[in-house]
Order: sequence, then structure tokens, then C-alpha cells
Amino acid sequence: MTVPDVDLDQATVKALLTTTRSVRRRLDLDAPLDLAEVRACLGIALQAPNGSNSQVWRWILVTDPAQRRRLGDLYRRANAEYAAYLQAHATPADLDAQRSLASSTVLWDRLAEVPALLVACYERPDWFDGSTYAQASMDGSVFPAIWSFMLACRARGIGTCLVTSHLRFEREVAEILELPETFGQAGLVAIARLRGHTFQPAARAPLEQVLRTDRWGR
Ligand SMILES: Cc1cc2nc3c(=O)[nH]c(=O)nc-3n(C[C@H](O)[C@H](O)[C@H](O)COP(=O)(O)O)c2cc1C
Repeated sequence: MTVPDVDLDQATVKALLTTTRSVRRRLDLDAPLDLAEVRACLGIALQAPNGSNSQVWRWILVTDPAQRRRLGDLYRRANAEYAAYLQAHATPADLDAQRSLASSTVLWDRLAEVPALLVACYERPDWFDGSTYAQASMDGSVFPAIWSFMLACRARGIGTCLVTSHLRFEREVAEILELPETFGQAGLVAIARLRGHTFQPAARAPLEQVLRTDRWGR
């Protein structure tokens, strides 16, 4: 591929974008994590696009073991509910969810052991009315930065896994973190050094299946 006048190594960019995975089994829970590096990654992430450049994002980096344990307890409870739901309602079409569940269970009991948890929040503006537009503007102003953070971590040998299932208990999480009422939560990123450095592109539905031109049609 020829990319004229672009000051980026295409192979590295492609590798970073296609092989940054949700890491659970390969989070090294015993290795020391340099928080200065984590902060540097978050500094990079603040370059992400966000609505009106309002920078509604707010971040809490949780390292205190007692706080991690509280969040870990809620995460375990939330996933137990999800597992029970899947068990009761699973159809063959849910197989993907089941497969993803199998790998995600690794974190269920161990979230509290992950050395750092980055909680991604946003501060609701006065005009926030809960509409799709407003909610998309909030989530859409935080998730690009979350992903940038995850990519920046990966580039430094730090593994991450974005999780949201604990948000079934959003209010309890807010209490633990002493969040102001005006704050909403987008998700939480588990952060630890990576064990090993070889990651592959994941299986995804092909582009032809998910892209149409001009309109979706009947
Ligand atoms: C919005 C969102 C919420 C997610 N919530 C969870 C979660 O609660 N627990 C978990 O283990 N993984 C969670 N994940 C990670 C997905 O399971 C993962 O991205 C997906 O299975 C694809 O795997 P990959 O990221 O390794 O390509 C979440 C990802 C996203 C984008």
C-alpha cells in the first residue's frame, strides 16, 4: 500500500488498531504497574474527539485496594445476574454471547486484583435531557478517549479490558466513588501489565455483511 505524505508507519498503525484486544487472561496481576505511564496514556487519550470540544469526560483512577474490592464485588454480582439471564434465555443465536461470557468470567472474581481501574465518567451539561441525542453526545464524547487510552496502553505493553456490566448497579458504583449527582458513567477499564506481546486480529463479521451504500433498504 502506498500512502504518500503520511508521517506514520502503516504496518505499526495497522497492527495496533487490529490487534488491541480485551485482555483478561493475560493481565499480569502480579507485575508492578507504573502509574506515571498510565497517566501518560490518559494524557494522550485527551486528544480524542469529543462533542463541541466540551471535554465532559471525568476520570477516576482507582488503585486503593479497598475501593477495588468494593467495585469488584459489584462487578461479580452484576455478572452473576447476567449469567443467570443467559442461562434462562439462551438460544442458539446467543452462542456468541456465551463464548464471550466464557472468556469474560476470568475477570469476574479477579477485578479487585487488577492493580488499576480507570472509571470513565462524564459531567452532564445543563441541557442534558436524557434524549438519544443527549446520551449519544455524552457516551460519544467519552468512548473515543477510552479507546485511545487502551491503544496507548497497548503500545507500552499494558493490557486493558473495558467493562460496563457493573453499571447494572450504577447508583452503588456512584456511591462508592462519591460521584456528584451531575456525573454519568460510561465504563471502567481494568489495567495491568501484559503477559506476552503477541495478539491477533479477532474474528469479526465481514465488512460486506455490515456495510451498505446510500441506504439500508428492505
Ligand atoms: C461497551 C462495551 C462494554 C463491554 N463490557 C464488558 C464487560 O462488562 N465485561 C467484559 O469482560 N468485557 C466487556 N467488553 C469487552 C467485549 O466483550 C469485547 O470487546 C468483545 O468480546 C470483543 O473482543 P475484543 O475486544 O478482544 O476484540 C465490553 C466492550 C464494550 C465496547
